[in-house]
Amino acid sequence: MKIFAHRGASGDFPENTLCSFREAARLPIYGIELDVQRTKDGILVINHDERINRTSNGEGYIRDMTFEELRSYDFGSWKGEQFAGEKIPTLQEVLDIFKTTHHMINIELKTDVFLYKGIEDEVITLLEENGMLDRVVFSSFDHEMVERVLKKAPQNEVGALFMKILVNLHEYGVMIGTDALHVSLVAAKREAVKTAIERGNIVRVYTVNTKEDYDLMKKLGVEAVFTDYPEKLYLHGNR
Ligand code: G3P
Ligand code: MG
Repeated sequence: MKIFAHRGASGDFPENTLCSFREAARLPIYGIELDVQRTKDGILVINHDERINRTSNGEGYIRDMTFEELRSYDFGSWKGEQFAGEKIPTLQEVLDIFKTTHHMINIELKTDVFLYKGIEDEVITLLEENGMLDRVVFSSFDHEMVERVLKKAPQNEVGALFMKILVNLHEYGVMIGTDALHVSLVAAKREAVKTAIERGNIVRVYTVNTKEDYDLMKKLGVEAVFTDYPEKLYLHGNR
């Protein structure tokens, strides 16, 4: 079973920051996951929330701030004083870390709250410029976005993200045109996901942080898990 470091090695490092991704980059895992947002002046940055309140010493929405203002905030101290001074990274800075590694990159397009119109074109263009489009799995909770990216990057996998427990997941995937279903751990423990796996879907599960859940997902036939503790689960899986 494959492992993606969720927001980097976010259990022990401040999520979605360069130190979190550098830690993941040194591990022999399959890939990493990150969340993309866009600043007022059009810079692609990495952060889970639309607002910076939870993970920085600043306040407000990313889409209302210039990149220069965003960069003045500290995205490390909330996790521990040893991380003081970590800045919000750009997508380019994260790509630079992985240019010379083998890792796959799961880019989650966070357009389920704000549309960030055209963000998928900007992300695809940046990946092409870096020669890294073939290293990427896209995903989104915004399934209109999933449909768009499937058309714009037909050679890439695009996972439809689900938080809730749905029936007929397989049929839903067929309807929107993707085999890849990225489901929550709660949903993965229910019948619909078992059926989807039996029907040939690629199922990836977030967020799997314990050895017990890792073993359970492996038994179910899940293709990959997203974890905040990639080193722990890698060692467990390869013991
Ligand atoms: O892509 C898997 C996972 O990251 C989806 O949920 O809220 O952690 O972005 P979230
Ligand atoms: Mg995510």
